Amino acid sequence: MAAPVVDAEYLKEIEKARRDLRAFIANNKCAPIMLRLAWHDAGTYDVHTKTGGPNGSIRNEEEIKHGANNGLDIALKFCEQLKAKHPKITYADLYQLAGVVAVEVTGGPTIDFVPGRKDSLASPREGRLPDAKQGAQHLRDIFYRMGLTDNDIIALSGAHTLGRAHPERSGFDGPWTRDPLKFDNSYFEELLKGESEGLLKLPTDKVLVEDPVFRPYVELYAKDEDAFFRDYAEAHKKLSELGFTPSSFKISLKTSTIVAQSAVGVAVAAAVVVLSYFYEVNRRIK
Ligand code: HEM
Repeated sequence: MAAPVVDAEYLKEIEKARRDLRAFIANNKCAPIMLRLAWHDAGTYDVHTKTGGPNGSIRNEEEIKHGANNGLDIALKFCEQLKAKHPKITYADLYQLAGVVAVEVTGGPTIDFVPGRKDSLASPREGRLPDAKQGAQHLRDIFYRMGLTDNDIIALSGAHTLGRAHPERSGFDGPWTRDPLKFDNSYFEELLKGESEGLLKLPTDKVLVEDPVFRPYVELYAKDEDAFFRDYAEAHKKLSELGFTPSSFKISLKTSTIVAQSAVGVAVAAAVVVLSYFYEVNRRIK
């Protein structure tokens, strides 16, 4: 499918959808599942084959049925309501915008959003998303395949500040934090406390404090929320743009820069001509 043309009209529609998403997510208290949808659409990316990624393919019947996506049909249905209001926006952009807005409306950092993602109907084979029952090596294998780093793994895991696990979806149960609708650094504080009453720790959460490379990041984010927000915003942007080069946007930006630069050039040249004319006239009068 072709990339959408990111012109002024498309950008305006994105801003309208952003406003609708803010209200929708706040009213329905569905920030966690919208964020999980954005992550599961993007997290299938393979940097080597350049397949998967944030391309809207999670809406395909085949892909939404993958075990890791259990329950996400609810978020797809929510997004259909917004798509009906903003048909011009691609599914790929809509899902990623929903993820960015979910973080924002629950008190998290502002994440830069660049539109222009293409929709695809090609679903990768099952098994590209992480398995919560495994350990540090598995996390590295999965995130390195996406082209992401150790730092990204820990920062992005902090998204579990939101939401909860549902036994009928994943087999796990309960929230990670005491206020699962507030995006803050409490996920890391809880991780360092060890077993806390009633709060969830997946095997893949536990390895973040056990692995000697991961642990210093957990300690940093537990004591410095600004550092977490800064790194999270950067890692989330990377995740949301895996395999995506905002070409038409860049070209239009470049073109306008060139146009602006030429306009400045022409103005300077004109000023020089006018000034030298007056200088000449002035000289002759004298
Ligand atoms: C590091 C590897 C990860 C593993 C193994 C993992 C695993 C899981 C599991 C098992 C659930 C429970 C699903 C359910 O029962 O409803 C869950 C929920 C969730 N995950 Fe992750 N996840 C990972 C990374 C991420 C990332 C990178 C993000 C976002 C950037 C994220 C966002 C969420 C959110 C927001 C929920 C709550 C959903 C809800 O409340 O409905 N996760 N995750």
